[in-house]
Amino acid sequence: MIKVMFFWSCSTGARIIMACRDLEKAERAHKEIMVDSGNQKIVIKKLNLSDTKSIREFAEVISNEERALHILINNAGIMMCPYSKTADGFEMQFGVNHLGHFLLTFLLIDLLKRSAPSRIINLSSMAHRWGTITLDDINSERNYHSRRAYGQSKLANILFTHSLAKKLKDTGVTAYAVHPGIVRTELKRHMNIGLLIMWKVVRPFTKTPVQGAQTTIYCAVQPELDTESGGYYSNCRASRCTRAARDDEMAEKLWELSCKMLGILWDGAQ
Ligand SMILES: NC(=O)c1ccc[n+]([C@@H]2O[C@H](COP(=O)([O-])OP(=O)(O)OC[C@H]3O[C@@H](n4cnc5c(N)ncnc54)[C@H](OP(=O)(O)O)[C@@H]3O)[C@@H](O)[C@H]2O)c1
Repeated sequence: MIKVMFFWSCSTGARIIMACRDLEKAERAHKEIMVDSGNQKIVIKKLNLSDTKSIREFAEVISNEERALHILINNAGIMMCPYSKTADGFEMQFGVNHLGHFLLTFLLIDLLKRSAPSRIINLSSMAHRWGTITLDDINSERNYHSRRAYGQSKLANILFTHSLAKKLKDTGVTAYAVHPGIVRTELKRHMNIGLLIMWKVVRPFTKTPVQGAQTTIYCAVQPELDTESGGYYSNCRASRCTRAARDDEMAEKLWELSCKMLGILWDGAQ
């Protein structure tokens, strides 16, 4: 899906930064996108969201080298992997899908503010319904269920978007959470056999990567969204998320916990 987004951005003549953990894979996609789009303003930078050291290094390079950042797409994600931890000891799905993007956004927020109007797009999922935020066992150390942990991380993406909108009010930086649809990508790599069989059944009703990228692109550029922030979008329109995803109090608790886990101070006003 991300390749489609890069390709689309190139066709607009924008300067694109591909933030990737696998540089060989990135190089292949880079060549393809440059040839197809004719845009030469596309660069690859190393970013591993499962390691805060890598996130800090990436953000430092971007802050030093780029004069402006208008669109940040927090797209990377992993789903239903066996229990494992990030380099900093966070449960992998929560660590990559939520904390990694939380830290990255924090480190780039000054650049985004200086570049305003600018937008932050957080890839969430309808799977936010599968989980709850377990504040007293956020790393699922007592009890790990891969599907619920994915749901927790995707719920966190919506609550984060909600908090960003509140804290960034009047800064010219807006935030959007996206459910791209059920898309034919590599996300299902950790699915068990039962789910893979179910996937085969629903496959004819799923989206291609081009179709799956449309809501993200919509949130990145649609002029009507200039005055909206904090919402959840699907099929290129505002959509309804669960009550848990609209819980102000939980959004604030999650924000505080995320800051504490990452050892940062971010009240939103800075
Ligand atoms: N596909 C769906 O049906 C669906 C539905 C709802 C929501 N989503 C969301 O959409 C987003 C994109 O997923 P996708 O479907 O395009 O899946 P995908 O094909 O598996 O792509 C996920 C991307 O995330 C990258 N990534 C994973 N861990 C990373 C890390 N530690 N550091 C840096 N990059 C990392 C992967 O890098 P590598 O290429 O190196 O593996 C890959 O490029 C995810 O946030 C997902 O939760 C997808």
